[in-house]
Amino acid sequence: MIEFKNVELRYNDFVAMSDLNLTVNEGEFFTFLGPSGCGKTTTLRALVGFLKPYAGNIVVAGNDITDLPVEKREIGMVFQSYALFPTMNVYENIAFGLKVKKLSKKEIHEKVMAVASKIDLSEEQLYKNVASLSGGQQQRVALARAIVLEPKILCLDEPLSNLDAKLRVGLREELKRLQRTLNITTLYVTHDQEEALTLSDRIAVFNNGRIEQVGTPYEIYNKSASEFVCDFIGDINRITPRLIEKINEQTTGRRFKTDREAFVRIERIFGEVKQNYASIKGKVLDKEYNGLYTKYTYEVEGQKLKNIEKNDGLISHELNDMVDLFINPDDIMQF
Ligand SMILES: Nc1ncnc2c1ncn2[C@@H]1O[C@H](COP(=O)(O)OP(=O)(O)OP(=O)(O)O)[C@@H](O)[C@H]1O
Ligand SMILES: [Mg+2]
Repeated sequence: MIEFKNVELRYNDFVAMSDLNLTVNEGEFFTFLGPSGCGKTTTLRALVGFLKPYAGNIVVAGNDITDLPVEKREIGMVFQSYALFPTMNVYENIAFGLKVKKLSKKEIHEKVMAVASKIDLSEEQLYKNVASLSGGQQQRVALARAIVLEPKILCLDEPLSNLDAKLRVGLREELKRLQRTLNITTLYVTHDQEEALTLSDRIAVFNNGRIEQVGTPYEIYNKSASEFVCDFIGDINRITPRLIEKINEQTTGRRFKTDREAFVRIERIFGEVKQNYASIKGKVLDKEYNGLYTKYTYEVEGQKLKNIEKNDGLISHELNDMVDLFINPDDIMQF
């Protein structure tokens, strides 16, 4: 439904995105994930029409929109800062775009009320001044203001990042539900890996003006295409060549290159005996109690390794304990 074809995006001489090729399917919840400054917002701005590509084309539903003005694109946008009109009440904020479109008072009222009920804004809240709302409520209004125009595509640029952790998780679930019911193609920008994994149908991982990998949350997490993706999407251990040699010495059927580092996710190092896994000895350097689990740091072959153990009473180590750790060679990633 959305295609970026050989798109290059620049700010004067600075190339913010180079050779961008990406297809987003109809109805998909698609996330741009990456660290600060990697080009996520820039790419979104190009789609919405605030930034004209230096090269390449953007195609939506088969139509080239590269030169189409913003107002003709039918793309809704919600920003990190709510960007509401501070002198208007909630109702007027949501109705604004409909007024610009010159709909009748009756039509406007029907649409505003329908959207308000969809996103759980009470009638009482509708006539409040936006400044008197909480951050979460304001972000709901910003969302309502975008979806009331029934856009074909919804762009959300870090819409939850200004909210506290609990509210963020609540609104995240709501957002997903809303997107499913409206079945609207959604582009979501975040640098929060957990948000990306839980919300998305597919994720594009951005790094420094390029896309490193596109895939489902499962693929991005379990079949990371590069060290950058692997590191960004989860908690990993780096395995030094010295430890790789130790693992290679064991008859696990796999040999890893010893001229570079390897990686293994912290939850894939096990404290209980596993047949056919590589086994290594670690000394407990640190333990961090976390309620559901405890996170351990070990010293192994002159390097640090971390793992997590469920607090189900089966495994509990003390500082300086020597413990056997088990790694499945298939969980070792080398790029
Ligand atoms: N108006 C601008 N003029 C010049 N350079 C810009 C402009 N906006 C962004 N840039 C640069 O383009 C690059 C990409 O910026 P962008 O805003 O797309 O990053 P981002 O991935 O959205 O980051 P964040 O997570 O911090 O929002 C950065 O190096 C940034 O400094
Ligand atoms: Mg941004």
